[in-house]
Amino acid sequence: MRQGRHFLQIPGPSPVPDRILRAMDMPVIDHRSAEFGQLGRTVLEGSQKIFQTSGPVVIFPSSGTGAWEAAIVNTLSPGDKVLMVETGHFATLWRQMAARWGIDVDFIPGDWRRGADPAAIEDRLARDTSHALKAVMVVHNETSTGATSRIGEIRAAMDRVAHPALLMVDTISSLGSVDYRHDEWRVDVSVSCSQKGFMLPPGLGFNAMSDKARTAAKSNKMPRSYWDWEEMLKPNANGFFPYTPATNLLYGLREAIAMLMEEGLANVFARHQQLAAATRAAVNHWGLEVLCQEPKDFSPVLTAVLMPPGYDADQFRKVVLDNYNMSLGSGLSKVAGKVFRIGHLGECNELTLLAALTGVEMGLSAAGIPHRAGGVDVAMKLLEQRAEGNSATHLKVVGS
Ligand SMILES: Cc1ncc(COP(=O)(O)O)c(C=O)c1O
Repeated sequence: MRQGRHFLQIPGPSPVPDRILRAMDMPVIDHRSAEFGQLGRTVLEGSQKIFQTSGPVVIFPSSGTGAWEAAIVNTLSPGDKVLMVETGHFATLWRQMAARWGIDVDFIPGDWRRGADPAAIEDRLARDTSHALKAVMVVHNETSTGATSRIGEIRAAMDRVAHPALLMVDTISSLGSVDYRHDEWRVDVSVSCSQKGFMLPPGLGFNAMSDKARTAAKSNKMPRSYWDWEEMLKPNANGFFPYTPATNLLYGLREAIAMLMEEGLANVFARHQQLAAATRAAVNHWGLEVLCQEPKDFSPVLTAVLMPPGYDADQFRKVVLDNYNMSLGSGLSKVAGKVFRIGHLGECNELTLLAALTGVEMGLSAAGIPHRAGGVDVAMKLLEQRAEGNSATHLKVVGS
């Protein structure tokens, strides 16, 4: 018998705020009606703001994997060569998918402890003098490891060698939580989905695309139907979809965009950075190791924590779930059993995070895992410093 609200501290799906749940609690409307057209236009335009693009964004009723496939089938042809980077489990899955579509992937190997190295990408591209590589495909926030890749630097590396490859980026667990600039970084296809930074249930997949990507879509040779951008973009011009859309998720999306814009994207990004820094401070104090080894690549969205040798991460997660009603993320494939992941994204604030960290610290004790007590205090002190500015001003006003 578990009481109280379940703590869903996995790195997506992230908890759905009550405000979004209420927004979705609506009757389904006619998706050919004027009312729907208005909803469609609002969410399509709003999504552009989150991707920081003035170009088109399409929304599929799909998971993120579907949006990955849409990026591939709209731009590439069987036999095309692309460059990908082994940042972790999700980069490996995207690579597998590309291979299934007959794409020849040059996969830069990685140790799952950092983001993609812009210099390694630059080196590969510089050697590709015949421009055989048609795309560079990178995962912005590798959800399996808690490492981000610096997309602006990757774009700069591509520019330095004047390579014409498309830049395609998986922003599935970063969009709406980590600074991401589709236009400024001249990304050609950005792939995302609903259940992470958008704070929605799973079920929506996104592609933002550049003119260059749309041009590639006109001549590429991959068969497609459901995922075809142009089929989607035609009715989208008036807010409609070529098939039955996920209407109630779109109500939720309208609310999610409103929430993100009310807070301000810069504040959303800063909040995630601060929560992540507090989490890492706690982990370091416990004497445990953060999986990501490159400070520049630390993820603002999640922290993957290595278990001490001889201790199983899944058993630890079970102790936390059974005792404190909290779900932590599991280690995936190569790091299964070796790491657990703390999600700190979406509807997460100081108190949510401190409760989650308390659950982890209590779990470490309950599971008999060697650690130094007091990590939560360290996190609390860090978060107090962040709040200090606001309360000092407040006290002065009240006292004066
Ligand atoms: C970075 C990344 N890419 C792709 C996916 C796959 O998305 P989905 O499970 O929605 O198909 C995930 C899922 O967690 C992810 O985190």
